[in-house]
Amino acid sequence: MPQPIASRPINVPEKPEQSEQVTEALQWGYSLANVIEIMTPCLDAAGIKSLLEIGSFRGELTEELLKWAEGSGASVATVEPLPPPDLLDLKERRPELELIEDTGVGALEGLDSLPDAIVIDGDHNYYTLSGELEKIAGMAGDDPLPFLLFHDMCWPHERRDTYYAPDRIPEDERQPLGHNCTIAPGNPGLSKGGLPYEWAAAHEGGPKNGVLTAIEDFIEGRPNLQLATVPVFFGFGLLWQTDAPWAGRVAELIAPYDNNPVLKRVEGNRVAHLVNGHVDAATIRDLTAQLARQDELFGRMLQSSALGLAEKLSNLKQRGNPIFTRQEIQDLLDRKVK
Ligand SMILES: C[S@@+](CC[C@H](N)C(=O)[O-])C[C@H]1O[C@@H](n2cnc3c(N)ncnc32)[C@H](O)[C@@H]1O
Repeated sequence: MPQPIASRPINVPEKPEQSEQVTEALQWGYSLANVIEIMTPCLDAAGIKSLLEIGSFRGELTEELLKWAEGSGASVATVEPLPPPDLLDLKERRPELELIEDTGVGALEGLDSLPDAIVIDGDHNYYTLSGELEKIAGMAGDDPLPFLLFHDMCWPHERRDTYYAPDRIPEDERQPLGHNCTIAPGNPGLSKGGLPYEWAAAHEGGPKNGVLTAIEDFIEGRPNLQLATVPVFFGFGLLWQTDAPWAGRVAELIAPYDNNPVLKRVEGNRVAHLVNGHVDAATIRDLTAQLARQDELFGRMLQSSALGLAEKLSNLKQRGNPIFTRQEIQDLLDRKVK
């Protein structure tokens, strides 16, 4: 997911209906829970009995996966280096959940065997994702790879790294960094406004940059893999072996969504509005700060006897029609002026 730093928009209900686990209007839509109705039929078709999620954040997808597992009988484990309170609360409520407090690679190293499926949604950069994929391939050896599911196949992470913790990545494996920066579609550099990131590659594109680039490089030389991309909510990806007994059924299920041009258009539109919302919010923040400074200055001026004298002088010079009055300034401060 992108790292959301979004503030809560006005006029949006506190929580969506529990039965309708969807993104609230105007929010990022960062959770793969938003594609659960597409994901679980594929898990069922592949007969998944054990699943690992890498990168759980608040556990929104995790909770949906636990609900799915009630019916399928699958085990669900999730990996999060820094579990937020919501995730710890989920672990309390659902003791069957295995919570591994580690990075993706660290968690994989601690496993006795690979699960049937792995959802990879941790740190969205080439180095981390390639490391996770190579670790999985190494553990699989000559056995089939697990069913792999990904987030952030599309803009902004498709061809641009972002980093939760750049110091976990060797410097020569990292892209030149932007810090507390904003990015916008169509601008390969850093933009003046847009989606905010604490750490993002200063440039989009080029080798070893981005989630899709890491997946493409992994697929290269492994001809028995099939990749599908559902281009919604920043892009949901599925990667499976074409020789898996269930491969045909998954391919059939996902075909209507895979790179669907209408979905791409809808996602482009959604992202443009999301980015514009951030640009507008930043402009409003700047203007509000400027207004506060003006208020403070006017307040000080109103306290000053020199302003009273200036008002009287202006009254005299303009024959009872002064250029300004203190009342006008007070009305401005009281927001009485339309
Ligand atoms: C986009 S959020 C996950 C969202 C969740 N999968 C969902 O769909 O609701 C990414 C999470 O990955 C975690 N993370 C960052 N670096 C990681 C790493 N190297 N390994 C595993 N998780 C990582 C972050 O702390 C963050 O909570």
